[in-house]
Amino acid sequence: MFSTTIIIPFILFTFTYLLFKFYLREKQNTINHKKPPGPPTLPIIGNLHMLGKLPHRTLQSLSKKYGSIMSLQLGQVPTIVISSSKAAESFLKTHDINFASRPKTQASQLIFYGSKGLAFSEYGPYWRSVKKLCTLKLLSASKVEMFGPIRKKELDVLVKSLEKVVLVGEVVNVSEIVENLIEDIVYKMILGRGKYEQFDLKKLVQEGMAMLGAFNLADYVSWLGPFDLQGFTRTCKKTGKALDEVLEMIITEHEQSTNVDKVRHEDFIDILLSIVHQTVDPENEQSGVIDRTNIKAILLDMIVAGIDTATTTIEWALSELFRHPRVMKKLQDEIQNEVGNKRMVEENDLKKLNYLDMVVDETLRLYPVGPLLLPRECRESITIDGYFIKEKTRVIVNAWAIGRDSNIWLENADEFYPERFSDKKMNYQGQQFESIPFGSGRRRCPGIQLGLVTVRFVVAQLVHCFNWELPHNISPSNLNMEEKFGVTIPRAQHLHAIPSYRLECDEKLE
Ligand code: HEM
Repeated sequence: MFSTTIIIPFILFTFTYLLFKFYLREKQNTINHKKPPGPPTLPIIGNLHMLGKLPHRTLQSLSKKYGSIMSLQLGQVPTIVISSSKAAESFLKTHDINFASRPKTQASQLIFYGSKGLAFSEYGPYWRSVKKLCTLKLLSASKVEMFGPIRKKELDVLVKSLEKVVLVGEVVNVSEIVENLIEDIVYKMILGRGKYEQFDLKKLVQEGMAMLGAFNLADYVSWLGPFDLQGFTRTCKKTGKALDEVLEMIITEHEQSTNVDKVRHEDFIDILLSIVHQTVDPENEQSGVIDRTNIKAILLDMIVAGIDTATTTIEWALSELFRHPRVMKKLQDEIQNEVGNKRMVEENDLKKLNYLDMVVDETLRLYPVGPLLLPRECRESITIDGYFIKEKTRVIVNAWAIGRDSNIWLENADEFYPERFSDKKMNYQGQQFESIPFGSGRRRCPGIQLGLVTVRFVVAQLVHCFNWELPHNISPSNLNMEEKFGVTIPRAQHLHAIPSYRLECDEKLE
């Protein structure tokens, strides 16, 4: 038997030891669990009330007060906002794998087939396989080139139609013609045909985009979900069902037509149907078999990602060119020196047009179409720069603020000045973080090449074939440049201008 003289000191010692250990661990946790600074929060909604109509601008000014790694509480969702190139490099390069997932939202689940596509799937073997498939089979350099004739043909049709407008000196809705052009290009490339009479795919895609960009309270305060206070769930289900029916119909149409090469070009649906029932990644047996839902999900991702991005970038590039006659002249001179003024631009000419690249890079710096990229989600708790970031924290990268950071882009950061890129060639391949319009790291945009060639070609052609004058009541210095916020940031007001033909002899178009 132990005597009480031994037992009591032993118990006391053990208790003191455990207490001390617990204290040390708590202290350690508090040290390691330091959150990045951020504004004070309200109960339930956290900081949601602060975002305003243009969250990229609000977050930029908040980051000036709280720092380039800032904490927010969006409803129940802990969130980190990144606002400098240095912080972006840390999150999207050094620790990229930890932030390579996407959070689930109602719109992505109900309209975009949840984790069946590319853009909204969580990081893992399935996403890796679909990304490989899309990069190799749909968006590779050879595929981008293969679809070149579609871009040329649609642009020729637009130039031809504008020649008629020129004769009567009409004001043109530039935003509208660019949107229609890109839509025609994207539909022909992806679906193999232009508009359908039976249904309004454009309207449905726009509704899907609007739901994706809309603020849904239930995504942030999950217990409000079942009440569907905003009618969001209902609308998402309705739009998702309508889009699904349309995609089903288009795929069935493809399955029934066998004469691809004779009647029409091969398109994305043909490519995807040719690998249906095969494993997503032939080198990875576990990647699953491609089924119809995968095909619909990938197609929808491509349509949505392809249309708005190029349209918005071209719209902003032209707006800035109309506002800066000096830059416009320099660009027109460059194209004229390379191409002459007797023929239209060909895609082959683009590689010689350095100033055009600078104009497009400058546009993407000032107007990254996804101002907050697409949201990321932290996969495992991690400490970065002394800040503890918990698993499942949402990460928002403010690409808009990064592109306008005066520490990097100097005091004229907000000005459109393409010459700043004369010594700085951008390649968007994940090594440069001063301007990240295509994101970075594993979730970087896989359509960079396709996006860039489309934007460069359309801008070059429209300024080479036409001079553009703003409507009579608008001078370059008072052109409205306000944006509206969604998944992308298009102009708040449509851009209008009066074209006049500038090539010497009318190129004969078939
Ligand atoms: C000017 C043109 C474009 C811009 C500025 C752009 C920008 C972006 C951005 C910012 C992201 C999010 C990246 C991130 O989270 O880090 C993204 C993702 C994506 N983009 Fe693009 N994009 C463009 C064109 C295209 C085109 C033409 C396609 C295909 C037709 C495309 C397909 C995608 C897809 C599928 C994703 C999701 C990638 C993933 O989550 O793994 N994009 N894009």
